[in-house]
Amino acid sequence: MNPNLEKQLKKELEELKSKNLNRTVDDLRFISSTKAIDSDGKEYLVFGTNNYLGLTHHHDVIKASKDASTYGTGSTGSRLTTGASFEARELEKSISEFKNTESALIFNTGYMTNLGVIYALTKENDIIFSDELNHASIIDGTKISKAKVKVYKHKDTDELERLIQSELKEMNNQNSNFFIASDGVFSMDGDIAPLPELVEIAEKYNCTLIIDDAHATGVIGKTGKGTVEYFKDKTGIDLTDSVDLQIGTLSKALASEGGFVCGKQVYIDYLINKSRPFIFSTALSPSTIASANVALNLLKENSEEYLNNLNSNTKLMRELLINAGLNIVDGETPIIPIIIGPADLANRFSNELKKEGILVSAIRPPSVPKEMSRLRFTIMSTHTKEEIEFTANEIIKIWNNIKK
Ligand SMILES: Cc1ncc(COP(=O)(O)O)c(C=O)c1O
Repeated sequence: MNPNLEKQLKKELEELKSKNLNRTVDDLRFISSTKAIDSDGKEYLVFGTNNYLGLTHHHDVIKASKDASTYGTGSTGSRLTTGASFEARELEKSISEFKNTESALIFNTGYMTNLGVIYALTKENDIIFSDELNHASIIDGTKISKAKVKVYKHKDTDELERLIQSELKEMNNQNSNFFIASDGVFSMDGDIAPLPELVEIAEKYNCTLIIDDAHATGVIGKTGKGTVEYFKDKTGIDLTDSVDLQIGTLSKALASEGGFVCGKQVYIDYLINKSRPFIFSTALSPSTIASANVALNLLKENSEEYLNNLNSNTKLMRELLINAGLNIVDGETPIIPIIIGPADLANRFSNELKKEGILVSAIRPPSVPKEMSRLRFTIMSTHTKEEIEFTANEIIKIWNNIKK
């Protein structure tokens, strides 16, 4: 190894450690949707997954995965060569039907979906307007894109409009396309994008609107369809056709792995031809796709039950923490961040909870801004009332000790 590089890497790792920002991998094995054991066999109640509906452990989902493995454990190639399974086509049909869009396309992860969509659709003279708290995969998509990127303050649609107007004034190239990209539910704060305002601006200035519903699909909206449905429930206005591209992931409420984009057929045809993560990576295995497909079918059939459980669990945890005076980000989604501030304190909080058998990771920079370290609790429909009450009590006890 190059000794200079070795020295440099070690120095950077030491710096991260000294700031409590180093990351390590702790092995886990889930024994149910909400419980896991570590490598010493200690059992934990888990409050930090994205498995909102607990479907990773549903009998039908596991069976679908096992059954599909009879078609081979791997997909053997890119979708454009030998990796095009019947399962993938079936899931894409089901997703586009669920989202009421013309078409859908599966990618290997939600991360690759954002990268692959943004990179493929944007060109040199284009401009992408991006919320400052968008997920890293949107940010990385904008970074590798040749387009200019303008970041607007979180959910600040006035600033977004000002930025667009100022770009329009400066523009002398008639061929520029404008894009607005936003998380639907923001991954670290759990709040919801102001979709009606984004749509209004996108329509006024002819922008292509991209909404990432990774944490919204299966989570918000009466039947779990996501951000568009959430606002339809609220306002009665259906914005489906006003969002050009809805992105999602199979790795959260849909209990598997992979990502998807849905929208008009022309986008999907273009991405099949131009999106490098789609073209140059081996497709997901039939098992992975089949389990997501069954999870989606379960959601379609049982949305009322799943979402009622998820919402009442979320409400209970939020109420217990708010009543105890904890500094949680206001909202209504199952992502409940307790803002701690310094990274070392967030680590301590997480470690203390771990001793009590509760697993939730400390989220620190660069995942969140400096001095905004937090514990990010995620509630599941399969948590019991007792588990939530027990966890809330432990949180409150430990927090009262820590802040002394
Ligand atoms: C908003 C958002 N988009 C995309 C992703 C990436 O999804 P995946 O884990 O499937 O790569 C995440 C994952 O955490 C996310 O929070």
